[in-house]
Amino acid sequence: MDLQGSVALVTGAASGIGAAAARQLAARGATVVVADLQADKGEALAAEIGGVFAQVDVTDTEQIAAAVRAASDIAPLRAVVNSAGIGWAQRTVGRDGTPESAHSLEAFTKVVAINLIGTFDVVRQAATAMSHNDADADGCRGAIVNVASVAAFDGQIGQAAYSSSKGGVVGMTLPVARDLAAVGIRLNTVAPGLIDTPIYGQGEDAEAFKAKLGESVLFPKRLGVPDELASMVMECLTNPYMNGEVVRVDGGIRMPPK
Ligand SMILES: NC(=O)c1ccc[n+]([C@@H]2O[C@H](COP(=O)([O-])OP(=O)(O)OC[C@H]3O[C@@H](n4cnc5c(N)ncnc54)[C@H](O)[C@@H]3O)[C@@H](O)[C@H]2O)c1
Repeated sequence: MDLQGSVALVTGAASGIGAAAARQLAARGATVVVADLQADKGEALAAEIGGVFAQVDVTDTEQIAAAVRAASDIAPLRAVVNSAGIGWAQRTVGRDGTPESAHSLEAFTKVVAINLIGTFDVVRQAATAMSHNDADADGCRGAIVNVASVAAFDGQIGQAAYSSSKGGVVGMTLPVARDLAAVGIRLNTVAPGLIDTPIYGQGEDAEAFKAKLGESVLFPKRLGVPDELASMVMECLTNPYMNGEVVRVDGGIRMPPK
């Protein structure tokens, strides 16, 4: 799929994997709508790549609608990347066994609201706009990539909420790709392993933690970098025969229980 002259909407684009995808999309000739909670970083990136910033909380359906309208007003929206997401770590049963120390239901709900429901809300609204695009020679009107995680498959101790949310993103891949086939839109999911982004925090402790994590990767023994993920996102978006698939990009890691 040729992205030249089209618009791409990237959520979570102010940082990490989303920012790398936004840069690679711009390099292929797309105008990128940088959708994120973080205005400072989002506006700076939009200025760097000649895109547009849209203040979007993916749990706010009206803000998503406004970003999709802003995108479609520029040129046909042909590419969407759902990278907005948050992590959470808490055991299901607390160490002291009291009802109060059980996993926070509020936290579980929030993680699912952002990572899963937010992703689907962007998919349904963006795909609806894309369904009005002219089709290319293959009948394709656009492509979508969702970002899950290897935690969808090898969730660790404390990852009940995160793995449930990412498992939902994996689970929707085939049925939503089937729904969208009727309107000529492909949808795939990438499942990153351990990628060096601000999601792990910053500073000395975070660096030591990341170095330790890197040792558990099969090969190469290091964390991935956002561009390595964005490269797979671009392949999923532009390869006309890629559809309905979940691709791990993880250096071969299989996460142990903890
Ligand atoms: N870094 C990793 O190791 C890793 C591994 C597996 C999966 N992932 C997934 O990759 C995606 C990107 O993560 P990253 O590592 O680049 O993290 P990151 O923290 O660098 O970027 C995430 C971005 O999402 C934005 N965001 C968070 N909540 C939002 C909301 N409600 N609405 C809009 N934007 C919101 C943040 O502001 C941030 O800019 C996430 O979905 C994450 O779960 C990351």
